[in-house]
Amino acid sequence: MMIETKDLTKKFGALTAVEGVTLSVAEGEVFGFLGPNGAGKTTTVRMLCSLISRTSGEARIGGYDVGDDEGSLRARKMIGLVSDNVGLYEVLSAYRNLEIYGRLYGVPEARRRENIEKLLTMLGLWEKRDVAAGTFSKGMKQKLAVARALVHDPEVVFMDEPTANLDPESAKTVREFILELKKERRTIFLNTHNLDEAERVCDRIAILNTRLMATGTPGELESMVGGKKVVVELARPSEAVVAALNERYAGFTVAPGGTRLTFAPSDPDGQIPDVVEAVVRAGGRVRYAGVEGSSLESTYLQLVKGEAR
Ligand SMILES: Nc1ncnc2c1ncn2[C@@H]1O[C@H](COP(=O)(O)OP(=O)(O)O)[C@@H](O)[C@H]1O
Ligand SMILES: [Mg+2]
Repeated sequence: MMIETKDLTKKFGALTAVEGVTLSVAEGEVFGFLGPNGAGKTTTVRMLCSLISRTSGEARIGGYDVGDDEGSLRARKMIGLVSDNVGLYEVLSAYRNLEIYGRLYGVPEARRRENIEKLLTMLGLWEKRDVAAGTFSKGMKQKLAVARALVHDPEVVFMDEPTANLDPESAKTVREFILELKKERRTIFLNTHNLDEAERVCDRIAILNTRLMATGTPGELESMVGGKKVVVELARPSEAVVAALNERYAGFTVAPGGTRLTFAPSDPDGQIPDVVEAVVRAGGRVRYAGVEGSSLESTYLQLVKGEAR
């Protein structure tokens, strides 16, 4: 495992910001850390990057304990961080910002140049390499911060809400960049409160609200709150259709009015063709047939509130 925590906990005085978080992220995985404001996402990442100490529990990066001096030193070399505050040298050019960072990490000159060019190009900033970072738009600064986190070729990249406040196009560039990093087998830990983003780029997602509420693939999380169902709308109510479907499917309900029929078979998506056929065979006419319920959003809201079964 590239990232591993066990019962990781952080208290700020009387406030418990992160409580008993146990998770593991494999090499090459894009792991989404999803939660509302104040959930403890940034605090967790700061502990993993040895920027703050933990109150209790364990945390390892690449097998190194980030809580002791030697471990944190080794782990830090493997880590790139796009933090939630950008912090660039505003008077220096984009290129110099990256160069200084590369030197700090002891990246040899040739490798440094190669990486900087590649990263600035991937993020659409190569043309702006000689422009002072202070004149950049918010989105450009954010992209520069993303580039900076990669100059030293880290194996593990932590990104703390990297697309927050970005316009849709820049956000897309950053998401595509994350997918490129995935192709390079880097491990990515992505803090986000954007569900759509998590669903699009993450292999697995953990939902945090001080404690971990759930972990799984987007599909697994959806099935955890078990909400997917088949919905069929008939052109007109039909006793014969209801009888035919009742015979085939369990847990079957008919809404008042008699045209909207819902039930939850084990594989809702795969059942649609059969359902439609059964309706037609029983003499019904289908106005609409589809799978509804449990989007990742409703799943998320239920899991954050701890309502999941
Ligand atoms: N340095 C700090 N001192 C005191 N409280 C803090 C500190 N950093 C974070 N917190 C508190 O810890 C909780 C979690 O914060 P944070 O990790 O920033 O959440 P998130 O990144 O998920 O929005 C919040 O209640 C926040 O106010
Ligand atoms: Mg945060």
